[in-house]
Amino acid sequence: MAGPDSVDLKTTYLGLRLSSPIVASAGPLTRDVDGAKALADAGVGALVLPSLFEEEIVAEEVGLSFALEAGSEHFAEALDYFPAVTNFTSTADRYLELLEETKKAVEIPVVASLNASSGGGWVRYAKLLAEAGADALELNVYRVPTDPQLTAAQVEEADLALVTNVCASVSLPVAVKLSPYYSAMASFAARVVAAGARGLVLFNRFYQPDLDLETMDVISKVELSRTWELRLPLRWIAILRPQLGTGISLAATSGVHTGSDVVKVLAVGSDVAMMTSAILQSGPGHVSVVESELRLWLAEHDYTSVAQLRGSVSQATSLDASAFERANYLKTLHSWTTGDQHLVPGPD
Ligand SMILES: Cc1cc2nc3c(=O)[nH]c(=O)nc-3n(C[C@H](O)[C@H](O)[C@H](O)COP(=O)(O)O)c2cc1C
Repeated sequence: MAGPDSVDLKTTYLGLRLSSPIVASAGPLTRDVDGAKALADAGVGALVLPSLFEEEIVAEEVGLSFALEAGSEHFAEALDYFPAVTNFTSTADRYLELLEETKKAVEIPVVASLNASSGGGWVRYAKLLAEAGADALELNVYRVPTDPQLTAAQVEEADLALVTNVCASVSLPVAVKLSPYYSAMASFAARVVAAGARGLVLFNRFYQPDLDLETMDVISKVELSRTWELRLPLRWIAILRPQLGTGISLAATSGVHTGSDVVKVLAVGSDVAMMTSAILQSGPGHVSVVESELRLWLAEHDYTSVAQLRGSVSQATSLDASAFERANYLKTLHSWTTGDQHLVPGPD
């Protein structure tokens, strides 16, 4: 057995060479340079910045144009507006600054994230992020389509148009972070790739609001993930890896907490395992714990590198993935026997 320290953790993601497959996903961990540096020091292979949200920029731009219009109608007062406008630092400016500062502070690749809900304006921001030095872009397509007139096909077309526009506007590699709720995931994933995406990030976590029964208020509180949530990306990466081929990058996100979780997602064909909740819970030092667990598992199982493990277990072993899934479904349901070890509550 090779020693854990000699295991080669290098991987390639979106054409970028990473020293480790453990990546910090988009979120509060990377919203300041100190946080990014702490993660890089702890050993992540790359960082994804929090998303730049279209709504925030639009709200600011609307606010600014109201101010300017009001100013032009009342000329004397308008003079007062100009200094404020000159000093105006928009969300987008602050984001570009964060990107530039983070790039200066760390030596690992930095991925910028855009949360887009409409086409046009995003192309502008994608270009600005590319100019500011992003190594890649992650397009965070997060929406809850509540309009009863909007069909699934229309939702997919709109999302694909957005991916096409952004990919055509920059030469940077673009990864698309998808929700798990597309009804024909395999087909949609292939179309996202055909639209120009170099990688998929699977999956975004939707934050489900709760109700406070005393006040009858809607409670919007972020809950951190649990390890069992890994099952969804695990299944889909196993299905998609053989379908998309090795030229397309796959990142697993949702439920990666331990070294074993990283082993699992790599084994089914991920190029990287992304983490946020576990690091928020335990601090940046958790990255080195997970790395040690990964190294130890690989060494104990006679793997000398991450490359050797990657994709070793996937749906490639089954010629018909749907039949395999259906057979598994039946087997799982039939495995439930009163009184046996399956009768334990699920993980919370
Ligand atoms: C507080 C918080 C903020 C987040 N912000 C973003 C974001 O700005 N953009 C994004 O694409 N994902 C965001 N995420 C989602 C994470 O990147 C990640 O996909 C999700 O938390 C699942 O991974 P985990 O199980 O490792 O937490 C956020 C998650 C949390 C907990």
